[in-house]
Amino acid sequence: MQQQITLEIFRYNPDDKEGPAYKKYEVPFRKDWVILDALNHIKDRIDGTLSFRWSCRMGICGSCGMKVNGNPVLTCASFLEKLAPGPIRIEPLEYFPVIRDLVINMDDFMDNLKKVRSWIIHEKDDNLDEEYLQTPDQLSDYKQYSMCINCMLCYSACPVYGLEPGFMGPAVIALAQRYNMDSRDDGNKLRMDIMNAEGGIWHCTFVGDCSAVCPKNVDPAGAIQRYKLEGARAWWTRWLLPWGKE
Ligand code: SF4
Ligand code: FES
Repeated sequence: MQQQITLEIFRYNPDDKEGPAYKKYEVPFRKDWVILDALNHIKDRIDGTLSFRWSCRMGICGSCGMKVNGNPVLTCASFLEKLAPGPIRIEPLEYFPVIRDLVINMDDFMDNLKKVRSWIIHEKDDNLDEEYLQTPDQLSDYKQYSMCINCMLCYSACPVYGLEPGFMGPAVIALAQRYNMDSRDDGNKLRMDIMNAEGGIWHCTFVGDCSAVCPKNVDPAGAIQRYKLEGARAWWTRWLLPWGKE
């Protein structure tokens, strides 16, 4: 029975002149341990300088995403047992600037979330005395897209995001769609102008890897294809109805 397993971890310290390198660590091989347990073991017992993000340890906060043996995964949901006998290579999510070790800079993602206004927009000023009612059917229209935990695994799996600086990427588009489909929201037209522009839906070439890696079955690739249909319809409507009615 295997007693130990080797982790090869990407290390990078911006203050260090030597540049990035992989460092090997031996950790106990326990059936009930996920990668995050092994990283915490290293941090607590072997090397306190190792930096990584995590919070909930239960697939909810979305902060523990890393590349494990080349695949973007939630490290709190990836068991050592499935990766035995090792070694297991752990790297930061691809296509994001690295701040230190396994910690990435997510500013681009956060800025794009703001750009598409990923919140409910009301045409009229909010009347706080009025309830915004919604039926279970109306909820089920967008519920799938609302399951996103902002883990950014889909970005790390998307070759277009890697190649095209400016592309908003899978989760931002899925979240824009989540609000478009919400019966309480009036922001569809506003978001469509952004999505139809440079960096929006038309950059997606439908590789589909974003949906394959998503731990919450959000299906961002499907959301983008739906959005493209709506984008094409909006474009044609503008051409056919030049006075602007849609
Ligand atoms: S769409 Fe899925 S993979 Fe992408 S950020 Fe949301 S939960 Fe993560
Ligand atoms: S630690 Fe929160 S999703 Fe993994």
